[in-house]
Amino acid sequence: MPRSGRFSVSVLGGSGYVGGELIRLLLKHPDLTVTQVISRSQRGRYVSGVHPNLRGHTTLRFVDLDDLSPADFMFSALPHGAFASHRDLLKGMADRWVDLSADHRISDPTLRAMFYGEKDGDSAGYVYGLPELNRERIREATRVSGAGCLATAAILGLLPLAKAGWLGAGPIVMEAKVGSSAAGVRPKASTHHPERQGVLRSFAPTGHRHTAEIVEQLGQIRDEPLRVSDVLLSATAVELVRGVLVTAHCPLPETVGDRDLWAIFRSAYDGEPFVRIVKERRGLYRYPEPKLLSGTNVCEVGFEIDPHARRVVVMSALDNLVKGAAGNGVQAMNLMLGLEEDAGLDWIGLHP
Ligand SMILES: NC(=O)c1ccc[n+]([C@@H]2O[C@H](COP(=O)([O-])OP(=O)(O)OC[C@H]3O[C@@H](n4cnc5c(N)ncnc54)[C@H](OP(=O)(O)O)[C@@H]3O)[C@@H](O)[C@H]2O)c1
Repeated sequence: MPRSGRFSVSVLGGSGYVGGELIRLLLKHPDLTVTQVISRSQRGRYVSGVHPNLRGHTTLRFVDLDDLSPADFMFSALPHGAFASHRDLLKGMADRWVDLSADHRISDPTLRAMFYGEKDGDSAGYVYGLPELNRERIREATRVSGAGCLATAAILGLLPLAKAGWLGAGPIVMEAKVGSSAAGVRPKASTHHPERQGVLRSFAPTGHRHTAEIVEQLGQIRDEPLRVSDVLLSATAVELVRGVLVTAHCPLPETVGDRDLWAIFRSAYDGEPFVRIVKERRGLYRYPEPKLLSGTNVCEVGFEIDPHARRVVVMSALDNLVKGAAGNGVQAMNLMLGLEEDAGLDWIGLHP
């Protein structure tokens, strides 16, 4: 049954996949009470009727957006543009919030126009919500934007190289494989079982929107903007429900070897609660593997130097609904509310 915590939290978009993950994590959080879950289409229904994994854990019912009341904290898991469209209704509903949509992720207007076709952005006052990049700024923030799931994997994989100044010697070629839950709960032709089962579909060989945040954030980490032509991302839909695997190929300076890479990855991620370096010498799971991360807030990163070419292959994996969305949002909320950063996020993945 629900725990009673000192902070009240509401969830917008509670009938969606990210909304469902938020509720799963928040119900077990030691410091929070989920007070309202919003859905227009499911109002009045038990939350566990829509998210059956929550049976026995909550007796909450969905309420309509018009019946939202104030809470200490608010999560928005609404589609692109929807949060802003309800601005008047949402005024005064929480002092702090995390919006997991892409609405406030990109501050560079050129990048925003290029990838979202939108001239005017709305990132003012928002902090980009990856704690591994912006921990101290998130602690002070009242508004945080979630990061994209592919972007989170790509950025966390490449962050050590960006910090070391080893990005930008040439284009970074990246392939992202992604499961169907990234497309949300509404059925579409592309996620319909007969059309999805068994395919490996190149749905964005060029122009994926997350390229914008990867370019912007990696440029900020290395203190020198990257060009769009330096980040060549292709995305493929694979037959998983959850999971992202990004494989990035980066040119390396002549002198950099395996030990140097170990050193920069360790220095970037020592003490990070939710990033794990995976590079084993033997076994089946020698590199990051989304299957083992299902339901966890962990991003695994690993690398291998190509002995025949001056490049490193960086691999990073996560669960798109957790570290790629809801879990990362809860991690940011913990910082914003002054709680333990890993509170409510201590889940171990599954094997086999
Ligand atoms: N799925 C992922 O892996 C992932 C990863 C990172 C970030 N995100 C972002 O997280 C957000 C939610 O993603 P999702 O996959 O959970 O989407 P989803 O499954 O489609 O759920 C979105 C929910 O928002 C509600 N909604 C839709 N339009 C609305 C509107 N105009 N006003 C109010 N409510 C509206 C819908 O509920 P009702 O119709 O019942 O009200 C719907 O259940 C998106 O912005 C997405 O880009 C998703």
